[in-house]
Amino acid sequence: INRIGVFTSGGDAPGMNAAIRAAVRTALYNGKKVTGIYHGYQGMIEDSMFDMTSRSVSSIIQKGGTVLKTARCLEFRTEEGRAKAYENIRKAGIDALVAIGGDGTFTGAEIFSREYDIPVVCIPGTIDNDLNGTDLTIGYDTANNTVIDAIDKIRDTAASHNRLFFIEVMGRDSGCIALNAGVAGGAEAILLPEKDTAIDELIEMLEHAADRNKSSMIVIVAEGDKNGGASNVAKRVNEKFDYYDTKVSILGHLQRGGSPSSADRVLATRMGYTAVNELLKGNNRVTIGIRGSNMVTTPLEEALSKKELKLNEDLVEIAKIMAF
Ligand code: F6P
Repeated sequence: INRIGVFTSGGDAPGMNAAIRAAVRTALYNGKKVTGIYHGYQGMIEDSMFDMTSRSVSSIIQKGGTVLKTARCLEFRTEEGRAKAYENIRKAGIDALVAIGGDGTFTGAEIFSREYDIPVVCIPGTIDNDLNGTDLTIGYDTANNTVIDAIDKIRDTAASHNRLFFIEVMGRDSGCIALNAGVAGGAEAILLPEKDTAIDELIEMLEHAADRNKSSMIVIVAEGDKNGGASNVAKRVNEKFDYYDTKVSILGHLQRGGSPSSADRVLATRMGYTAVNELLKGNNRVTIGIRGSNMVTTPLEEALSKKELKLNEDLVEIAKIMAF
């Protein structure tokens, strides 16, 4: 390997910059050249790349977003798109790739490295914490802290007005952010995609809480919950339960921004370092992960084929008891 291409793809996540920095510096330390690819797979197709030095990644470890930009690229899903991408990365002299992103990024990497002779190692970067082969993804810790900060602020105003708030949080089909932030924010109920909670069941929980004279109530609704989002849940609850003035707050993309937490910076740095070392050892078509405190690798095919249940079942139970 002479030149490693680094890119971020899919939804951005705080800590991606720390992973880029670690991958770039580890490669340079080992005498390799590095090309930064803008906008993920889109940049390969459009030939949007630049030579990276150690200075290209100065003072980025503390920044949210991704300095390499990102995109969800439809053209890369076509054979023609991938052929164009391969032609451009070869022209740039790139002979290995570090891909930082989520599920879609991994899928693209798996197909590309199967079709073409280009080793790829992936790094899990997404706030959703929904990837296999790792306990944690880059950005998840920061997003949790952002959500908890928002819940705390909403709790202040909710308690002052004796209101019931429905707060919708991100996570796609995963309830990890909702569960974690719900427990840390003392939510009265948490609706998760992995658990079906009927509206009547939720109303029962809220009635019990109301009986205990709670001055405010917060229900965390994961965006993937089957009841169809916080606004819908609030409307349906209100038809039968109207003791409290009700408000809805959809936190949205603010959950993706902000300076990465210390935990995300360290995780991303370890993953960027490990990804390059795996490439240099001759490894290919794997994703980096953390299990306990150890860095591990999992074949991409395996990481994409099974669905690991990431939700902590104990915490689901504890959350219910804490709302008592
Ligand atoms: O995967 C990260 C994520 O923020 C999800 O939580 C959310 O469902 C999705 O991306 C939003 O995507 P977009 O920024 O393209 O609207």
